[in-house]
Amino acid sequence: MVRLAFLSVLLLLAAPAMANPAKPADNATYAAIVPQQVLVDADLRDGESLDGQWHYSVDPYRDGMADFLGKPGDVSKGRGADVNVAQAEKDNPNALFEYDLGDAPLGEVPSAWIAYDPTLRYYNGLMWYQKSFDATPNMLADGGKRVFLHFDAADYHTMVYLNGHRLGEHDGGFTPFAFEVTGLLRASGNNLVVAVDSTRTPDTIPPTVTDWETYGGITRDVKLVVTPATYVDDFFIRLTPNGQIKADVALDGVTKTGQAVEVDVPGLKLAMKGQADGGGRVSLSAAAPKSLQRWTPDAPTLYDVTVRSGDDAITDRIGFRTLAVKGTQILLNGKPIFLRGISLHEEEFGPNPSRRMTPEASRALLSEIKNGLHGNFVRLAHYPHNEVTTRMADELGLLVWSEIPVYWSVNFSSPDTLKTAQRMMAENILRDRNRASIALWSVGNETPVGDARNAFLGTLAQEARDLDGTRLISAALNTATANGPYDISVKDPLGSDLDVIGINTYNGWYGNGTLDDVRRTVWHSDFNKPMIFSEFGAEARYGYHDPVEKHRFSEDYQADFYRATLAMADNVPFLAGMSPWIFKDFRSPRRQNVYQQGWNRKGLVDENGNRKMAFSVLADYYKQKAGE
Ligand code: GCU
Repeated sequence: MVRLAFLSVLLLLAAPAMANPAKPADNATYAAIVPQQVLVDADLRDGESLDGQWHYSVDPYRDGMADFLGKPGDVSKGRGADVNVAQAEKDNPNALFEYDLGDAPLGEVPSAWIAYDPTLRYYNGLMWYQKSFDATPNMLADGGKRVFLHFDAADYHTMVYLNGHRLGEHDGGFTPFAFEVTGLLRASGNNLVVAVDSTRTPDTIPPTVTDWETYGGITRDVKLVVTPATYVDDFFIRLTPNGQIKADVALDGVTKTGQAVEVDVPGLKLAMKGQADGGGRVSLSAAAPKSLQRWTPDAPTLYDVTVRSGDDAITDRIGFRTLAVKGTQILLNGKPIFLRGISLHEEEFGPNPSRRMTPEASRALLSEIKNGLHGNFVRLAHYPHNEVTTRMADELGLLVWSEIPVYWSVNFSSPDTLKTAQRMMAENILRDRNRASIALWSVGNETPVGDARNAFLGTLAQEARDLDGTRLISAALNTATANGPYDISVKDPLGSDLDVIGINTYNGWYGNGTLDDVRRTVWHSDFNKPMIFSEFGAEARYGYHDPVEKHRFSEDYQADFYRATLAMADNVPFLAGMSPWIFKDFRSPRRQNVYQQGWNRKGLVDENGNRKMAFSVLADYYKQKAGE
């Protein structure tokens, strides 16, 4: 199968930038976790958007999944059936339907459903969507093309029915998935039914308890992607540590074997040509021309790169740079860099976010990080963000920490949970590995140390390297051993699987430590590796000033917390960066005191973008760091 063999070729070619070499992929492993089609750059491909008004119908008792005795029912004969209820009732006045998707209320897609109606603010469960659409001539069976129904994401478990056919399902709220619908479309009145279940369980990724709003729904773009019969399904194009521009390309389709493949970078006057082998894949490389402008946060140069094969051609904008670790330093293009970052949840500015991350919304957030905070780094917490945002980071010049929500108390003993995490990580890496901004793949956040957890995360770390040997592997750990009120050691056994150690530290906010303790805290590490403070933070309600008492939740306390923690950071010799928690106040149902009212207030700006006092503390610190 193209996908599997392609990966094994990649493994042989992508010499890892890190110490521990990627072990050859076990194809059986990848058979289960790598999508049948990657459809890389689906957002750039020909096709028709299905965004817009969809019918939605709540189903809190899951009536659409089972009969009244709870016995699983055949959805394709119920809500997933190819039926127009109004017409059916006209044709047979005796017919009885307890639902009518085609006549249900309308809501905007993409968007979390909490934006549809105040009654849905806290709805967590099963929602049915319905959309009728016409096909363009080239989508019909004799059009000689292939058609894929592509979702950028839907949160959390999704089941899809088209014209009464069950297309399949997907687990995970933050990564793309697609179903081939070639030959299934009719010229008009295609009936698309999508069920999205936002329910979390102890076995999902993330599990039941998190510190962020769930935002259930079809939260990202939906598109009918049209490709030639044989098309460029995947490519990975990058600068290697030894100065080569390397392109791994995978075709999908009946004529893939032996088909000519060409990769052109006009801006570098570079054209690489080759022929796909039996598996429809080919690896091309050429010395990077001296004229190459390497991508950096200060000069985020992107080149148009076109991949051509047969009737297909796709052009992406790609930055070329190298990443490595050397002792306790992170090297970008061979030079040490300090990551001046901040963490960010995927929420647009405003009092009622619904996770509609448009390019404008993403630009507003990332521009404030880049220009307001003088940042060069952003931790896209705690899940893969919208592709709009990773492309925006490429364009604006922000390095990115990308992560999957292996968060807190995951069921590390469940093989199914591991498979979900593996698949989610593969979908994330395969979507974004052409993004120069992405520097780190993180495999977990604040997971309790234990044998099962160490094995689970160690597997993910290795497979991340197998999928992409060019980036740094990390995790946000909360396991720093306190030797005393201001003496801490980093000992988490997972550290040996990572290239960069992320540490979340909240001394001075959680627990009884004082800011004086924080200021004088010294750190030791068992690992000769770079460490990032992947989180530290304190809450403040914007506009609450308390300059004398400096009570918690005042802007004054938050500003002092940042001063103390930054002073501590200056004394950590193996610190290579930080992404304090967090750029913007974000919705969290766990946070319900008088200052919070459903928001986690650790933001340096509030939900409307109003800067708190601590914003300038960090901005001044980063401005001085940038000057170093
Ligand atoms: C944790 C966790 C975050 C959470 C934060 C907090 O470290 O990673 O998701 O929001 O702390 O307590 O605010």
